[in-house]
Amino acid sequence: MTDTKPANVTGNIAPAKGKLGIMIPGMGAVATTFVAGVEAVRKGLASPIGSLTQMGTIRLGKRTDNNSPKIKDFVPLADLNDLVFAGWDPIPDDMYVAARKAGVLEKETLEQIRPFLESIQPMPAVFDQQYVKKLDGPNVKKGANKMELAEQVRQDIRNFKQSSGADRLVMIWCGSTEIFLTRGPAHETLESFEKAMVANDHSIAPSMIYAYAALKEGVPFANGAPNLTVDLPCMIQLSRDNKAPVCGKDFKTGQTLIKTILAPGFKARMLGMSGWFSTNILGNRDGEVLEDPESFKTKEESKLSVLEHILQPDVYPELYKDLYHKVRINYYPPRGDNKEGWDSIDIFGWMGYPMQIKVDFLCRDSILAAPIALDLVLFMDLAARTKELQGIGIQEWLSFYLKSPMTPAGLYPEHDLFIQSMKLKNTLRHISGENLITHLGLEYYD
Ligand SMILES: NC(=O)c1ccc[n+]([C@@H]2O[C@H](COP(=O)([O-])OP(=O)(O)OC[C@H]3O[C@@H](n4cnc5c(N)ncnc54)[C@H](O)[C@@H]3O)[C@@H](O)[C@H]2O)c1
Repeated sequence: MTDTKPANVTGNIAPAKGKLGIMIPGMGAVATTFVAGVEAVRKGLASPIGSLTQMGTIRLGKRTDNNSPKIKDFVPLADLNDLVFAGWDPIPDDMYVAARKAGVLEKETLEQIRPFLESIQPMPAVFDQQYVKKLDGPNVKKGANKMELAEQVRQDIRNFKQSSGADRLVMIWCGSTEIFLTRGPAHETLESFEKAMVANDHSIAPSMIYAYAALKEGVPFANGAPNLTVDLPCMIQLSRDNKAPVCGKDFKTGQTLIKTILAPGFKARMLGMSGWFSTNILGNRDGEVLEDPESFKTKEESKLSVLEHILQPDVYPELYKDLYHKVRINYYPPRGDNKEGWDSIDIFGWMGYPMQIKVDFLCRDSILAAPIALDLVLFMDLAARTKELQGIGIQEWLSFYLKSPMTPAGLYPEHDLFIQSMKLKNTLRHISGENLITHLGLEYYD
């Protein structure tokens, strides 16, 4: 520990004692890279690079105070050694086989943690091919209606809590992108949602059934995919009532990460933009699922909203009102999980003179997503233990990690990565009774 005030000095945050159980619907590339990475770090085989909770620091007080503890020493987060895992998947592979098939991590690394990964077997999934057309698997729950399936997931949650000895749980969706769905009458209230589950209403997707089960059990729910899932009044109400936090959706990795780093810079310097064309080639299962136009539409909506909110064309019509923004994803098997994202950006400067920027990011999707999954589960667990955060439902301070942050109705989301980072760190300072940092800095010139 550093000599800063202990994080729970305000009595606001309960300590992280005992084990934290992580429950993951979807044991594919992201989930296996996340879980294998945690085990590799625990065994001293790897570093948790990309994880703010493990590597990041937080400045407290003035710059002259030289007080920047590590975040994990400042707020009481679960220790990596206290994490235990479970998952669901329609494909019956254990985490070792799934990780081998995903092809993200090297065989040598996986061999060193093989027994641990083999011990995580997928529980039968709530799965329906109508919602993910390009996927099928036999490891699927059966039930007369969606309510019965939700009850089975709730039982899985209770069983895992007991068998693992976990003190607390968090659920994080790492499953596939479902078809595009919009909010409808079934999603308005808890009563209408429950009735619709019994009636097997089409507007209730499998991801919603897991989320409902988690929130009913008082378990926080994070969403790595762009699915509608908890963007619904009934879910937000359930989250608030049961003190089970929710946050936005779709891990902010790859191209969107770059977009939310670059676009705020152009806007800060008042440079105009006439076009941003993004294309991706990727060859993993996610890429295959996104070949289906209905799943792609869900992803497209999530990716497109980012620029509009950062650039604010209504506030700066001269600079951004004619922006043409296009996103393409192409399934190209030879690349596997190693995606290539090209961005061709048309900007204009002084007196309207045009310029072009080309970005070619040869990235590793799941390598970027795994530390986000880790940080989200640790911070969601922190939120559930923090008096001021546990009952508010949406954790907007976690927007930093997500392509589609969640906000209350009528409030636009903040997509700028640097504002999101400040919001996150100021939230940690606030719940710990520390002064917020405004970066005004006039006191250095008294
Ligand atoms: N890799 C990234 O950088 C990244 C970034 C943002 C979002 N995502 C999203 O995260 C999700 C996972 O990505 P991935 O690369 O691991 O994909 P993946 O295809 O490797 O894994 C998804 C897994 O989910 C399973 N699944 C599908 N429906 C399910 C259900 N109803 N219940 C339980 N399991 C189910 C599939 O069988 C598969 O094993 C995708 O939705 C993807 O769009 C990934």
